Amino acid sequence: MQCPVLAVDAQRPAAEAIARAAEILRSGGLVAFPTETVYGLGANALDANAVAKIFVAKGRPATNPIIVHVATIDDANNLVSVWPSIAQRLAERFWPGPLTLVLPRAACVPDAVTAGGPTLGIRMPAHPVAHALLQACRLPIAAPSANRSTELSPTLPGHVLAGLGDRIELLLDSGPTAGGIESTVLDLTTNPPRLLRPGLATIGEIEAEIGPIDRGPSDARIARSPGQMRRHYAPNTPIEVVTKSKARVAELTEQGLRVGWMTHMDGERLAAVKITLPSDAIGYAAQMYAALHQLDDASLDRIIVEMPPEGDDWLAIHDRLHRACVGA
Ligand code: TXA
Ligand code: MG
Repeated sequence: MQCPVLAVDAQRPAAEAIARAAEILRSGGLVAFPTETVYGLGANALDANAVAKIFVAKGRPATNPIIVHVATIDDANNLVSVWPSIAQRLAERFWPGPLTLVLPRAACVPDAVTAGGPTLGIRMPAHPVAHALLQACRLPIAAPSANRSTELSPTLPGHVLAGLGDRIELLLDSGPTAGGIESTVLDLTTNPPRLLRPGLATIGEIEAEIGPIDRGPSDARIARSPGQMRRHYAPNTPIEVVTKSKARVAELTEQGLRVGWMTHMDGERLAAVKITLPSDAIGYAAQMYAALHQLDDASLDRIIVEMPPEGDDWLAIHDRLHRACVGA
């Protein structure tokens, strides 16, 4: 059975809808809600039983820790055992916004949230609906992306319903999420800080604030973030990311395959379902998951993606596309 869906204005969410969602969270239930990155699957972060429901709903391995969302810097402070000056500086620069800080956890944080580990990932989301919900429930909200484990992240309410509609108590629907790709995860327990997951806040922006960070080789990055399985963010349709996508699409189409084509470059159509994304990183990120969802739902044999440009601004996009291809 599908969960109830409450439409809420993205800028001025109605208090009644927010109050209903907050009540579900306070009583230990699961609510999906929009953030400025992707939709999140929220539970009371201080209630181990509620957090356990997130793992069941997503089919998420217990080894993968969950990001906690807070309304204020003080709330963040209360959930960690140290709040170094670099955290203060980053929080003042990036919060509310798409930067998750990893710090030593406080004793009040249930093991389920941190996957039993010594650290906690924490961020203050910028979306007005997320913010209103945090204020109304007066709780820290544990929230991974609102998709089944390893699958594509949800940027539209329909994505949430397709994956989790029968496993949650409520969806707050405020349309597409603007950012489209997840937060950047930065480990502040090492010196210099280490990038665990590239995301919407770019390395350039972070380094402009605190100087050079450890970008790590991508495999080391993944090993360090315990729950980060390599295959992730993946459609069900086999996917390839290639530099000469037009030729590859033509080749597969000639073989009789039904091909989906995602590119950021102009050019003529082939006998394929083609989606052209913006050629700037912010625009591309905003639409990437929705395009992949659309192609994945189109009963195709293969999805071919034109390799995006290089450069720091494209790092998170490369990371997600790379993982989407693993095991495909
Ligand atoms: O934008 C986002 O970050 C979204 C929205 C809902 O806030 N959330 C999100 O959560 O993407 P999730 O669970 O899908 O991805 C969180 C990533 C995972 O790869 C997890 O391993 C890592 O962050 N992570 C969380 N806590 C961590 C910790 N204490 N140490 C290392 N990695 C952590
Ligand atoms: Mg996720």
